[in-house]
Amino acid sequence: MVDRRSKVVLLCFVYLSLLFNFSLEQTQHLLNSRVERLALLRLRSSLGLRAKEWPIKSDPCTLWAGIQCQNGRVVGINISGFKRTRIGGENPQFSVDALQNFTLLASFNASNFALPGSIPEWFGTGLPSLQVLDLRSCSIFGTIPSTLGNLTNLRSLYLSHNGLTGIVPSSLGQLLNLQILDLSKNSLTGTIPVSFVGLGNLTLLDMSVNYLTGGIPSGIGSLSRLQSLNISGNSLSSSIPAQLGDLSNLVDLDLGSNSLAGPVPSDLRGLRNLQRFLIGKNSLSESLPANLFPPLNKLQVVNLSHNAFTGELPAVLWSLSQLQSLDVSGNNFTGTLPTVSLNANASTAALNISDNMFYGGISSVIRRFSFADMSGNYFQGQVPDYAQNKVQVVENCLQNVTNQRSGGECSSFYAGKGLTFDNFGLTNTTQSPPSQKKSRRTKIILAAVLGGVVAILLLVVLIVLLMVCTRKRGSTNQRGIGVGPAPPGASPPSPGMPLNLSSLGDAFTYEQILLATGEFGDENLIKHGHSGDLFRGLLEGGIPVVVKKMDLQSVKKETCMLELDFFSKVSHPRIVPLLGHCLENENEKFLVYKFMPNGDLSSSLFRKTDSDDDSLQSLDWITRLKIAIGAAEALSYLHHECSPPFVHRDVQASSILLDDKFEVRLGSLTEVCAQEGDGHQNRISRLLRLQQTSEPSTSGTANATCAYDVYCFGKVLLELVTGKLGISASNDASSKDWLEQTLPYINIYDKDGVTKIIDPSLIIDEDLLEEVWAMAVVAKSCLNPKPARRPLMRYILKALENPLKVVREEHTSSARLRATSSRSSWNAALFGSWRSSSDVANVPVAPANKLEGGSSFKQSGTTGSQGSGHNGDGAHSSSTRRHSKEIFPEPMEELPDVNRPIED
Ligand SMILES: *[C@@H]1O[C@H](CO)[C@@H](O)[C@H](O)[C@H]1NC(C)=O
Ligand SMILES: *[C@@H]1O[C@H](CO)[C@@H](O)[C@H](O)[C@H]1NC(C)=O
Ligand SMILES: *[C@@H]1O[C@H](CO)[C@@H](O)[C@H](O)[C@H]1NC(C)=O
Ligand SMILES: *[C@@H]1O[C@H](CO)[C@@H](O)[C@H](O)[C@H]1NC(C)=O
Ligand SMILES: *[C@@H]1O[C@H](CO)[C@@H](O)[C@H](O)[C@H]1NC(C)=O
Ligand SMILES: *[C@@H]1O[C@H](CO)[C@@H](O)[C@H](O)[C@H]1NC(C)=O
Ligand SMILES: *[C@@H]1O[C@H](CO)[C@@H](O)[C@H](O)[C@H]1NC(C)=O
Ligand SMILES: *[C@@H]1O[C@H](CO)[C@@H](O)[C@H](O)[C@H]1NC(C)=O
Repeated sequence: MVDRRSKVVLLCFVYLSLLFNFSLEQTQHLLNSRVERLALLRLRSSLGLRAKEWPIKSDPCTLWAGIQCQNGRVVGINISGFKRTRIGGENPQFSVDALQNFTLLASFNASNFALPGSIPEWFGTGLPSLQVLDLRSCSIFGTIPSTLGNLTNLRSLYLSHNGLTGIVPSSLGQLLNLQILDLSKNSLTGTIPVSFVGLGNLTLLDMSVNYLTGGIPSGIGSLSRLQSLNISGNSLSSSIPAQLGDLSNLVDLDLGSNSLAGPVPSDLRGLRNLQRFLIGKNSLSESLPANLFPPLNKLQVVNLSHNAFTGELPAVLWSLSQLQSLDVSGNNFTGTLPTVSLNANASTAALNISDNMFYGGISSVIRRFSFADMSGNYFQGQVPDYAQNKVQVVENCLQNVTNQRSGGECSSFYAGKGLTFDNFGLTNTTQSPPSQKKSRRTKIILAAVLGGVVAILLLVVLIVLLMVCTRKRGSTNQRGIGVGPAPPGASPPSPGMPLNLSSLGDAFTYEQILLATGEFGDENLIKHGHSGDLFRGLLEGGIPVVVKKMDLQSVKKETCMLELDFFSKVSHPRIVPLLGHCLENENEKFLVYKFMPNGDLSSSLFRKTDSDDDSLQSLDWITRLKIAIGAAEALSYLHHECSPPFVHRDVQASSILLDDKFEVRLGSLTEVCAQEGDGHQNRISRLLRLQQTSEPSTSGTANATCAYDVYCFGKVLLELVTGKLGISASNDASSKDWLEQTLPYINIYDKDGVTKIIDPSLIIDEDLLEEVWAMAVVAKSCLNPKPARRPLMRYILKALENPLKVVREEHTSSARLRATSSRSSWNAALFGSWRSSSDVANVPVAPANKLEGGSSFKQSGTTGSQGSGHNGDGAHSSSTRRHSKEIFPEPMEELPDVNRPIED
């Protein structure tokens, strides 16, 4: 008895003491420094922080967001991405004097929080314990105070994406504990301080996209822990120091877009861990040392483009096992392609060897690349079958390919190498090679005759094309989408061309089709499409399908072939699945698609509810955004992941099919055509288009371009935002008027405009409103009248996936005009497209321009062009920057928002 009682007492005691301990610990977590409490309150009011994050009555250590305490003292302050109160947002300043009272402060993170002002001098002396300082994207300007060199405990210093000017203080070289130093994307001048070579703990050094001059200090080789070195996009000159080869831990090396000259040091083999080697856009010259890299290394991305290299490409570059991208374009490399590829498994790698002096035949090494831009060389012979769909070969000496160099140019190049050029493709039309003495005369005569014939043929083709185009244009005006044959920019497969039917699903018999559709009974008719009638059907196993019946008396056979050709090349979860076909009848062809339970967007946006009244139920916002993203994914795939890129040409709400989960399956694919590269055909079509478009037209007309799809997609987005049905399907005057009235309400600086055009049936709260606003902004950028200034689909996709970034980044400094990081370049590309037209020169439209119609690889090549438009011309660039600030008034963290209660 006694025993048990004592046990109970003991248990109670243990329990109580646990409780006591626990509460003791709790009190230890509370802020126990009065000075620091007052300092936090001062900080709160000087920065205008909100009660939402820092509720005034509660304990900062336990309940304030971003406050980190130890033993009741503040050791970390993180206000990254916070919003200010309305009053605080009216006059944001870099007023953080109160920080000096936190003597144990180890970390201050204010990234993405606007602190317009300069870094105070006292930062260096007033924050003795600081280990982490993150002021990325804070709209800071002025110079970097040299007193920062006194923060000897500092391990990470991030100052990128600001407007810092002046030199990089050499005192930063005293920060011996520094592991990360990121000064990128500012306007810093002067040289890389030699003192940096003492930063022995550094793992990351990023000073890219500034205006630095001078050379790369050779002592940099002593930074033995360095893993990432990025000094691209500056104006650095002189040569690459050989000591770089000592950086055995280096993974990323980016020296691109500078003015570096001279040869590449003969031995960089010490870079055992290198994965990315980027030295494009410099003035480097001479041939590359054959033993540049160790064999079997880890290289993934190599960019040597736009230098003045000569000689042969080191053989090791053709056999890198991890290779993803090799770009050596715009040099004077020469030699023939190796015939065997040693490690042919890297089939996803992209190759760009354009604009060099490679010659000989196209060899099997191309097999290991998923795409190869070989244009502007002297390749001869034929394009092998395995290379047909993945090479760009304009301006070479190839047979049977359009847009090649003249025979004279080719033969003199080959003669210069002591080789004979004996190519008889279309080059027959020009002169015959001089090296062939025998039967030269007959050849000249033959060539002349052939030349004449070809010229006449060309003329005929041109006239036919012109006729086709004008006819097509006529129909475009009625429907907004051409009904006629493919435009000249398209590449319809020749009717006789065999298709790989096995990739086109099952072959059904006519009887099966009849059975499935109830002999095409009216009750099964879905609609009369412009390329054929659509019928509902049931296959034998009870699988619901949609059958398209194409009557070749009213629909051109090519239309059918085009679509089949498309499906034979393309399969993607965002494209409506083709289940089969029936081609056995002479005059009727049938395509069988998977049935989409939710029809298409035009019919699903508003649906009759099941209830008795006639009320309509509209799609909720989340679903609308999901549909927009899905459609953007599909188009982005067509534009950027297919080569050559496909243009849909019929983007409208009724082309956006929806499966049972409202996932987008893009349909209506009869208009799809390949957007050719910079091909001959394309030039003709451009010429023709120019004539066509002499009368003004809103749609951008050149509808075989990706930009046309983007325009149409803009209308779809607007339809989702406003609920105005039919906008994406028509091009008539009333819809144009509607667009003209609606677009002015969309403003990146003002959310309120959107509330006036938003679909009244949408039920949305404050947060969602920002997403709607963002989609409207994206739509407007797609609807830019100038095709070249519309954003690329891939940027649109990014923007729709991050809608809040669209409207929020635009208000912080991170949407820099000179933004080049992958994180923000899509944003820049998006907004570059429609920002004030008076600012044409400063807006980075270049990507949109250049990339349009280019290969996807060309694109990735040009995104590396860090700091384009600031080629060392500091004066010009800084005026550009000032100008850009006029367009972008100094960013504010938060929009004036009447709905939000005023705090404090
Ligand atoms: C900083 O604060 C933000 C917002 O509260 C949070 O998302 C982020 O994870 C914090 N970062 C760190 C390193 O604590
Ligand atoms: C807090 O810091 C300020 C400087 O910003 C200083 O003047 C003041 O004396 C400090 N307060 C205390 C209590 O240490
Ligand atoms: C600062 O906060 C941001 C966002 O919350 C975070 O991404 C970043 O890593 C933080 N910085 C540091 C140095 O931890
Ligand atoms: C801080 O740095 C500056 C400049 O580097 C130097 O002149 C000054 O003596 C340093 N102050 C302290 C307290 O170390
Ligand atoms: C690296 O940092 C440690 C302290 O963490 C320091 O003692 C050492 O001197 C630094 N190494 C170099 C090479 O500076
Ligand atoms: C290639 O060499 C030719 C003459 O040899 C020269 O005119 C041309 O500028 C060079 N191209 C490059 C990109 O260096
Ligand atoms: C050129 O291409 C055509 C088909 O496009 C083919 O019939 C012909 O044989 C080719 N000529 C040569 C020389 O390969
Ligand atoms: C080019 O000329 C050669 C020799 O005269 C001839 O065999 C060949 O068929 C011609 N090719 C074309 C495409 O006309």
